Amino acid sequence: MSARVDPAPAPHAGVVRIAPYVPGQSRIEGRKDPIRLSSNESSFGPSPAAVAAFHDAAAHLNRYPDASQSALRTAIAEVHGLDAARIICGNGSDELIQMVIRAYAAAGDEVLLSENGFVMCKIHAHAQGATVVKAPERDDRVNVDALLARVSSRTRVLCIANPNNPTGTYLNAAEVKRLHASLPSGVMLLLDGAYAEYATAADYEAGERLVEGNSNVVMTRTFSKIYGLPALRIGWAY
Ligand SMILES: Cc1ncc(COP(=O)(O)O)c(C=O)c1O
Repeated sequence: MSARVDPAPAPHAGVVRIAPYVPGQSRIEGRKDPIRLSSNESSFGPSPAAVAAFHDAAAHLNRYPDASQSALRTAIAEVHGLDAARIICGNGSDELIQMVIRAYAAAGDEVLLSENGFVMCKIHAHAQGATVVKAPERDDRVNVDALLARVSSRTRVLCIANPNNPTGTYLNAAEVKRLHASLPSGVMLLLDGAYAEYATAADYEAGERLVEGNSNVVMTRTFSKIYGLPALRIGWAY
């Protein structure tokens, strides 16, 4: 008598489409602790003040953290001149990008990305069963017209990293404004500002004012890059 073979649980088609994220090399023969430049890890290490705060926090691991993250949100609001009530913190900005895509895109919807955009956006969109639409870039720069040409009635979220990784290019404030102005109001514009602090050009803006003036813009930021704290997984969104 042959044993009955029950089918294994099958993930939905979107999950099957996900190509696993492949992190950059973190081992080099003969080198101790090489810096992973593909993730832009800091070669300077974290600030001694952050290390001291981390040690202090270790004495309170028996406590649940403040679920409303009020101290951190207040501090971020003070530093950036923002409204603390409109800030949320997450497990790295990656979790917040995932939350936005989960909240606004479902199976059958489209998530619009730029050709060389942050790879996790594509993974989160597939995990939702959404269709990923990519717009080509010109000279490794996000192309506003190419993005707008690909907006359809099914587009729910448009994500751009500004400045982008790995191209290192940015869209100036006027171009981002033009992109937003031509989007249907029902499309969420996600401005990933993981590298905002590195864009020092006078015509660059991370998107705070665009968020404040509109109900279809989210900006994400992170402590992983400029503060050299990726191990803590602290991101925030406005
Ligand atoms: C463009 C971009 N956005 C977002 C992230 C996510 O960073 P984190 O989840 O550490 O905040 C990264 C990390 O490499 C990135 O390169």
